Amino acid sequence: MVELFGKYHEHFLGGAYMALILSLITVFCGTILGTLAALGKMSRFKPLKWIVSAYIEIFRSTPLMVQVMIIYFGAAACGLKINVPFMKDFNSFFWGLLVLILNSSAYIAEIIRSGINAVDHGQVEAARSLGMSHALTLKMVVLPQALRNILPALMNEFVAIIKETSIVSLVGITELMFSAKDVISISYRTLEPYVITAILYFIMVFPLSKLVGYLERRLNASVTR
Ligand code: ARG
Repeated sequence: MVELFGKYHEHFLGGAYMALILSLITVFCGTILGTLAALGKMSRFKPLKWIVSAYIEIFRSTPLMVQVMIIYFGAAACGLKINVPFMKDFNSFFWGLLVLILNSSAYIAEIIRSGINAVDHGQVEAARSLGMSHALTLKMVVLPQALRNILPALMNEFVAIIKETSIVSLVGITELMFSAKDVISISYRTLEPYVITAILYFIMVFPLSKLVGYLERRLNASVTR
């Protein structure tokens, strides 16, 4: 196995790198889109609330794998091909990444909405009765407390997405899982490439999830009641 990794390390490391890049872009864009969706879902304007809720529920209640297939082949059926000069396979990358972002945003929207809702309403009433404006209350009282709920969950989402990127290998994005299949087809070895792949995912995910646990404890310890 070591010698297999030595021989094909460029494939594996390239794949792991791609998985990390995909996850970073996904969670970054997902946070922006997810915040907008959370605000949309909390809006008092009913049609907006319904549309955003439908989006969130559809993306959370169907498998990511199915979403990737429908959007990728749906785009192809509509003749939508995004090609960029000198970038091979950009079309797969684009649609795969888009589905990851849409899926993650739906989860992040709920993370943000529940983080804000978890702040005790008495806090808002207290701030308002001290004469703080609505915006100031949000900025000084609600958001700092909501952030304590949101940050660890957001990092957990990042950790989850690193593993979920394996699904976009199905449409030809050369991330880690794709690299494993690549190595299998050139080395004629079936088991070892997958074991190496699992080890690499573990190396990326395990320290990060420990870090999230640590952060969570730190944030909770700073709460004085
Ligand atoms: N694997 C699950 C699915 O296919 C989870 C999808 C994404 N999860 C996430 N936290 N964004 O539905």
